[in-house]
Amino acid sequence: MQSLLVFGRQPELGIAEVESLYGANKLLPLTDQAALVDVDPCLLNFDRLGGSVRFCKVLTKLPPQDWPSLKQFLIEIAPKQSVNMPAGKMYLGLSLIGFKLSPKEINALGFKLKQAISATKRPVRYIPNKSLMLSSAQVIHNKLLSTNGWELVIIKTASSIVIAQTIKVQDIAAYSKRDYGRPKRDSQVGMLPPKLAQMIINLAAGRLPEDLSQSICDIPPDQLVPFKTIDKVVLDPFCGTGVLLQEALLMGYKVYGTDLNQRMVDYTNFNLYEWLLPKHPEIEANIKTEIGDAKSHVWQQPIDFIASETYLGQNFNQIPAPGILDNELKKTNQMISKFLKNLAPQLKPNSRLCLAVPAWQIAPNQFRYLPLIDQIPALGYNRVSFKHTGSDNLVYYRPDQIVARQLLILTRK
Ligand SMILES: C[S@@+](CC[C@H](N)C(=O)[O-])C[C@H]1O[C@@H](n2cnc3c(N)ncnc32)[C@H](O)[C@@H]1O
Repeated sequence: MQSLLVFGRQPELGIAEVESLYGANKLLPLTDQAALVDVDPCLLNFDRLGGSVRFCKVLTKLPPQDWPSLKQFLIEIAPKQSVNMPAGKMYLGLSLIGFKLSPKEINALGFKLKQAISATKRPVRYIPNKSLMLSSAQVIHNKLLSTNGWELVIIKTASSIVIAQTIKVQDIAAYSKRDYGRPKRDSQVGMLPPKLAQMIINLAAGRLPEDLSQSICDIPPDQLVPFKTIDKVVLDPFCGTGVLLQEALLMGYKVYGTDLNQRMVDYTNFNLYEWLLPKHPEIEANIKTEIGDAKSHVWQQPIDFIASETYLGQNFNQIPAPGILDNELKKTNQMISKFLKNLAPQLKPNSRLCLAVPAWQIAPNQFRYLPLIDQIPALGYNRVSFKHTGSDNLVYYRPDQIVARQLLILTRK
């Protein structure tokens, strides 16, 4: 059985993340919003994906057809599905991608499906659509992920119609706790969203070893998935308040963080030892931190890969005058180039890195990038390219943000 992922606000980042973990050949983009992944849904590790918002199992693929025929097909299969469910009320939802339909037309189908299921004497509640997709909150709060829930995600492409069932949606509340719940935060060094931290780690980690896969299908829904440690050390040379290290520990990695500023190293230690670990007794304290200037520091071995949001420079609330921006660009470019030159001889050949570096949004969707991007080989690295998305468009930003984060995925030559 195949998995299906629906990507977040910036699908290119979600695509690169999944391609990095599972390999280009396992990924088949269906639309710019969703892709099939040739991994058994029992084995796909959705919780570590920052760039995917919905995780589904594929139920069937149909040849292209018009809306009336598709409706008829669904009306025929819905009662059969309900027969296999535990007794009790069924919860039904519909989310569509690639269709040009109004919520009214989707709801008309929803009520027809409800009628067809009710005819089998099964009580059923249909969650009406306000738009083509139900929101994550609608999916969670209306029991669509329970054993009696059935949210169908239906995707139309030029060559097929894919029908899938939602297994999980991104747990917004959990991300929020991991972000705003941390005792030591510092708006001066910026706030790395945990979702972005996950993407940086996944892009840096590269292919997941096969033996890491554990079937979530054998675990009863009321039990936690057993925690697995991964015998690899992730280095963040700009660890700040430790968001990236926190997410790496939650994924099972050993972590190593350094920062120029003693206060930041203290914040990282406090957040990890006093806040994260007490809440997660399953995580071993495989943590190393020390003060260090990334331009000259000698890190302790072993280091398996580098995942970091580097120094982003000054925060701007409005587009700075050209002279000021030129200065800022020069300053950060120099700093990050020196860091990369210092790091290169300390890494094993082919070691992988993902660095979030600053890019400046000077007009909507138009960026100025660090000049070092054009000198990667001279700095001792190769740029990683992706089959299903460009490596130039991996920029994480909000429309109103001046300082964006460009994700640079590199390997040591
Ligand atoms: C944007 S924050 C990084 C956030 C961090 N990755 C996290 O997960 O919370 C940048 C950090 O770089 C540090 N920094 C600035 N210049 C540095 C240098 N030359 N060497 C090491 N750290 C530096 C700052 O003290 C700051 O904590």
